[in-house]
Amino acid sequence: CIPCLLTLSSVLLYTLYKWVIPGAVQYHGGLALIWHDVIVEWILDTLTQSTRPQRLLAAVHKKATRGNPRSVVKAIDEFCNQNEWAMNVGNEKGSEILDSVVSETNPGCVLELGTYCGYSTVRIASLLPPHAQLITLEFNPDNAAVARQVIAWAGVAEKVRLVEGESGEWIPKMKEQFGVKTFDLVFLDHWKNRYLLDTKLMEECGLLKKGSVLLADNVVCPGAPDYLEYIRNSPQYKSQFFKSHLEYTKAEDGLEKSVFLG
Ligand SMILES: C[S@@+](CC[C@H](N)C(=O)[O-])C[C@H]1O[C@@H](n2cnc3c(N)ncnc32)[C@H](O)[C@@H]1O
Repeated sequence: CIPCLLTLSSVLLYTLYKWVIPGAVQYHGGLALIWHDVIVEWILDTLTQSTRPQRLLAAVHKKATRGNPRSVVKAIDEFCNQNEWAMNVGNEKGSEILDSVVSETNPGCVLELGTYCGYSTVRIASLLPPHAQLITLEFNPDNAAVARQVIAWAGVAEKVRLVEGESGEWIPKMKEQFGVKTFDLVFLDHWKNRYLLDTKLMEECGLLKKGSVLLADNVVCPGAPDYLEYIRNSPQYKSQFFKSHLEYTKAEDGLEKSVFLG
């Protein structure tokens, strides 16, 4: 009968969408990104007439405790594991690599390139020593608007200055606009073709000092080959790779930690 056929095809489509395709693409970074970051995002945006950052923010408001940064991080990870993938650094790379680098660097002044919804911003800010400052750059105004609310909900707003604009435009203004001398830690997590350009820009602008740490996400997937080639071969850096997986998948990825030697 027609209703039975309709029910059967709906169940089949839902099974494909929820389990079969995500299961099939989770070991392949490129396919996982096309599925989660292009196809599913477009389907859900169209069906719900909302954006992924807005849905992520709603999950934070629903599940996280105001003023508790770790509960915000947990709510976002749950949303990404159970509802929809999002391009945060994620819990695996976050807890195993990013948090450790922040804690061992104990930075007074941090720059984050690429805020998105503020997930890594909250992770970093919650580990900073008192009086430390984190400047985070985001050029998409819709993402920045959501990030502001996530950061405020987590209760870390007094440590964070969210700057809306392009990295290439703002890096040269860091000293005069924000009184920055040098950065102790830079987390590179914006578009991958900017990693090398912005690193050279930070060098030219005198924003790195001996011992400054650059931590670059996604150096395998989507990958930043020109950056890796430069940072691993330059005598000005001591560089180390940390193997991991693309956020919320089992596809290969990793972070590159590079210490500026002056
Ligand atoms: C991978 S997401 C950042 C994820 C975030 N660091 C986290 O882990 O929660 C990359 C973000 O960088 C922003 N972006 C990309 N290129 C940029 C640039 N040149 N300047 C400022 N923001 C940029 C994008 O709009 C996007 O929101």
